[in-house]
Amino acid sequence: MLCGGAIEVRKVFTEDTVGKEVTVRGWVHRVFKVGGKVFAWVRDPTGVVQVVFEKSSLPEGTWPQVKKLTRESSLEVRGVVREDPRAPGGREVLAKTLKVYGFSPPFPIRGKEEIEFLLDIRHLWLRSRRMTAIMKIKHTILKALREWLLREGWWEVTPPILTGSAVEGGATLFEVKYFDKKAYLSQSAQLYLEVLIYSLGKVWSLTPSFRAEKSRTRRHLSEYWHLEIEGAWYDMEDTMKVAEEMVAYAVRKVLEERREELEFLGRDVSKLEPALETPYPKITYDEAIERLKAKGFNIEWGDDLGADEERALTQDFEKPFFVTHFPKHIKAFYMKPDPKRPEVVLGYDLLAPEGYGEIIGGSQREDDYDKLLQRIKEEGLNPKDYEWYLDLRKYGTVPHSGFGLGVERLVMWVAGLDHIRDATPFPRWRGRIYP
Ligand code: 4AD
Ligand code: MG
Repeated sequence: MLCGGAIEVRKVFTEDTVGKEVTVRGWVHRVFKVGGKVFAWVRDPTGVVQVVFEKSSLPEGTWPQVKKLTRESSLEVRGVVREDPRAPGGREVLAKTLKVYGFSPPFPIRGKEEIEFLLDIRHLWLRSRRMTAIMKIKHTILKALREWLLREGWWEVTPPILTGSAVEGGATLFEVKYFDKKAYLSQSAQLYLEVLIYSLGKVWSLTPSFRAEKSRTRRHLSEYWHLEIEGAWYDMEDTMKVAEEMVAYAVRKVLEERREELEFLGRDVSKLEPALETPYPKITYDEAIERLKAKGFNIEWGDDLGADEERALTQDFEKPFFVTHFPKHIKAFYMKPDPKRPEVVLGYDLLAPEGYGEIIGGSQREDDYDKLLQRIKEEGLNPKDYEWYLDLRKYGTVPHSGFGLGVERLVMWVAGLDHIRDATPFPRWRGRIYP
């Protein structure tokens, strides 16, 4: 039961309501007149039900209101449920009372609008079944990731967003005025999570991360939700296990709880099923380069893998897979070089299949004071900015590893979206900030 005694629209169909009186609330999705009757499809977050208005069943004075109903008018109806095979879902509500909360002028979205227009009126487009389905899938993914981490004993922590130094390189830093100083919007909580493992051992956070990405691509937002974990005593392989188990669990929960939404989006769920089974395949960066060369890419050892390269690699796998041991110089300063082969790092990306590419980036961290200091200098960073971070290697250093998962990247793949902007209700990317 909802507040005010109303029931969720879905329950009209799933509960024993036939012949009974119910109250439903929502917005008019469609309205049409047949004979002397008015039919309104009323939508709420759980579904759509047909409401039938007949003048003779309504109190005096209500009929003029019924005739004024338009799409997106908000209302509350009390009426009797009856079976009718012509109604969507096989049941409808014969209205006995109507309370209109707000009429709506002609709704600007009628279907088939251009994407730029839909972005301009996104505050209204978010009511669409498509966006509703995606938001529900995202909810289930977030719930599942949380569930998994809490079950496995990871502590949730709250790192800051206003930060004093770069994590992932200066090129994508958003600078903000912080009183009379400069600060940056966080690109990653990692360095703070590294601090917190010294008290809590295994920590995670879910925060916005910010990247001033220069190019407008289908998989880069300037603000995204970042789920990050960091574990003391965890080596690279240990966190890869966390990554695959967590992702597999999230996919399982979506398949269990969000079938209807996936179907509505036209997602081929058979493409998701292989991801339920772990472990995920692993290839090294060296092997990735060989595979790409064999596919005709003009690429050399030492080059970074871009979206095109990742997409090509995903053709070889039907489930998420890891690429490991990248060259040191294309990865961040904090990654620990492989002791057996110092030109590569103990780092990895997890790539989603079907062309989606990177959804997770992680590594074992450099835990030696002198080596980390040297890397900071090599990267042209100011050691003064990282004094506190270096201290972690001074006061009882410990091997540790972690990763960051881009929530919208995961949503994009699971929901089968062709652009990351729909994986978040209010996307910000390359300058766009409305609404
Ligand atoms: O690979 P990235 O840059 O790694 C880090 O930030 C590490 N410090 C994380 C860690 O180890 N704690 O980012 C991690 C993930 C990527 O794999 C990708 O899924 C996502 O964040 N990501 C973005 N998602 C949307 N838009 C962007 N501009 C993104 N940049 C990264
Ligand atoms: Mg990365």
